[in-house]
Parts: sequence; structure tokens; C-alpha cells
Amino acid sequence: MRPIPSAPLPEWLRSARHLLQTHRLGQSLLYLPQTDSTNALAQQWLQDGAPEGGCVVTDDQTAGRGRSGRRWLSEPDANLTFSAIVRPDLPLQDWPLVGLAVAVAVARTLESFLGGRCVRVKWPNDVLIEGRKAAGILLESSRDARGTPHLIVGVGVNVNQAGFPDEIGQRATSLYRETGTLQPREAVFALLIDTLEQMIGLCAGNGISLLLRLYTARLYALGETVTFYQTGAEAPVQGRLLGLSANGALRISTEEGEKAYHAGELTTHAPA
Ligand code: BTN
Repeated sequence: MRPIPSAPLPEWLRSARHLLQTHRLGQSLLYLPQTDSTNALAQQWLQDGAPEGGCVVTDDQTAGRGRSGRRWLSEPDANLTFSAIVRPDLPLQDWPLVGLAVAVAVARTLESFLGGRCVRVKWPNDVLIEGRKAAGILLESSRDARGTPHLIVGVGVNVNQAGFPDEIGQRATSLYRETGTLQPREAVFALLIDTLEQMIGLCAGNGISLLLRLYTARLYALGETVTFYQTGAEAPVQGRLLGLSANGALRISTEEGEKAYHAGELTTHAPA
């Protein structure tokens, strides 16, 4: 097995660690100034005995992975790019609920740096400020050396990025763009990790209904007419977005009645 590379924590991450109030999440940090993808490194670390709650952090992610095979572009030293290793207390089929919990945690963290402005979550787990994407979440399931399943929770948050490449410029934003002020990454990271632990903790028993309420309160396009591209389906579906079912599926009222979808992409545009 290849040795896991690591480097001393930079100043901002050492400060963040002092601010953390979590029991497990982020208590063990693996840092590299540059890496291809923190999700890839977290998977390698998991194989090598990473503790549950361990987080991989980098300041320069050179081949960030996005959902549906897309890339995640992030300016070096400006943002947060990290992956947490978690073992949800849920049956495997309910693990997507963790993605909703992560989206709520990111939204609540951003809200507190935006003076309480509402941040929206676009199902399943994009995080939007005024309709522009400020954070992305990529969940990948993986196994440790004993074969026990874990979830790699990859999070990219645009904190201090001022400009974006043309291909995403109109659709992306950052805390800096929204506030006009550079934000302390250590404080954003610490609050996010604290909130993540709380929200992931809701993913069991009675907590789930509270989690779904917190999510639905921020749900992008709720009550609007949407177009939904279901994964694997040939044609998109149009209908009114009703909210979420008890297992986190997306409820849409279509011409053929109410449907619940578990995977796909949502837009408010008419089909092309
Ligand atoms: C998306 O919106 O498509 C998901 C983007 C997820 C990006 C994060 S950045 C940290 C982690 N490592 C990766 O390679 N991807 C995730």
C-alpha cells in the first residue's frame, strides 16, 4: 500500500482546530498543500485505517471531482476543499439523507456569514446564494480495509474567490462576492464542521423529520414549476415541486400524478 502523504497544518487550519467544538468530526486532520482530490485521498486514508470523523483538507485541489462526472474548480488558498469520513447510523439505502444534512449544514454556516440572508439548497445538495452556486457536495461510498462501508463527504465552499472561469462565471458565487469582504477561512471551516456534526447527528430516528424541515425551509424552487432530469431516464419530467418524502426523495406533481424521485437534476428552465 502507498504511504499516505501529509504535511504540517497551515496557520489557518491550526486556528480552525482550536475553534472546533466537535466530538469526532475534524478531530483528526490530514492536510496537504496540494492534492488532486480530497475525496480520492480520503478513500486512500480510509483503507489505511483513518479514524471515523477524520477530514482531509487541501489548499489547492488540482482535479476536484463534481457530481455526474463534472469537475470542481477552486482557486488555490481562497476556499474550502475538504472531505470527511463518516459512518452513518442508517441503513445503506438511507445514506443519501446524509447529503441533505450536509447541504443544510453548509447553508446554515453560510447564512451566519451573510447576516442571516437565506441560502437555498437545490436538491439534492447544491447550495445557492441568490440563485448562484456557492458550494458543492459530493458523497462517495467507500470501504475500509475490513470491508466496512463508509461515506466520503466531499465539500467545496467558495469563500474568498473573487472571479470565476467563464464557463461557470454567471452561475457561481462566493462569500466574498456576496459580502464584499474577505472572510476568515478558519472561522468558516470550524463553524461548518461543528454544524456538520450536528446535522449528520440528526440522520437517525426522530431527528430525520427535523432535518427534512430544515432542508425544506430552504428548498430552491419549492412550489414552482420545474423540469426534472431523472438519472437514466430518456425524457425529462415537468411538474410542480411539492417537497420531500420521508426518505428524502423529491416529490413532484406531474400530469400523471405525484411522483417521487431519488436521483437526477432539477432546473426551473423549460426542457431544451
Ligand atoms: C458538485 O457540486 O458537483 C460537487 C462538488 C464537490 C467538490 C468537493 S471539493 C472537496 C471534495 N473533493 C473533490 O474532489 N470533490 C469534493
